[in-house]
Amino acid sequence: MIDHVLISEEAIASRLAGLAREIDAAYGGGEIRAIGVLKGSVFFLTDLLKRLKSPVSVDFIQVRSYTGTQSAGNIQLVHDLSMDIEGHDVLLCEDVIDTGLTLRRILELLSSRRPRSLKIAALLKKQLPENADLAADFLGFTIGPDFVVGYGLDVDERFRNLPYIAVWNPEK
Ligand code: IMP
Ligand code: MG
Repeated sequence: MIDHVLISEEAIASRLAGLAREIDAAYGGGEIRAIGVLKGSVFFLTDLLKRLKSPVSVDFIQVRSYTGTQSAGNIQLVHDLSMDIEGHDVLLCEDVIDTGLTLRRILELLSSRRPRSLKIAALLKKQLPENADLAADFLGFTIGPDFVVGYGLDVDERFRNLPYIAVWNPEK
């Protein structure tokens, strides 16, 4: 069901090194409160944060928005943050911006808690009209509309542990 490798392990590692430099430069040594959106962003978040020189704390949030490959349009808060973000510089780490619905809802929720700043680091963004107005402050790769798996991304909880990102094809 893996059609072809879209982004290799080496390409991911090299892009993350660049992203880490961009993030360090943007925060100028200030403390970052990194928030991972469970579960997909975990691989991206840990590899990215290991490369940062900035002081960083880590927390997680989990929402549910998808069953299989269909966007449900609604999100449900499954696991909330364990730390307060008021007055903190928050960096929200997301695996993929697809329609952007999930990210918009999470941004609304986090903004209401009055962080000092709220920026987005996304590993992938699909090039779609629906998410055109939703810019990631730090973006790994822009990809096409295909459904992808690996490096944290799943289809019904499978394939998250692939070290690369691949296009998924149920026919294959
Ligand atoms: P959105 O709300 O449509 O932006 O979708 C966000 C969530 O759907 C992501 O955080 C992923 O968990 C999941 N998702 C969207 N596209 C893909 C994909 O191509 N592969 C795996 N998961 C995806
Ligand atoms: Mg998923």
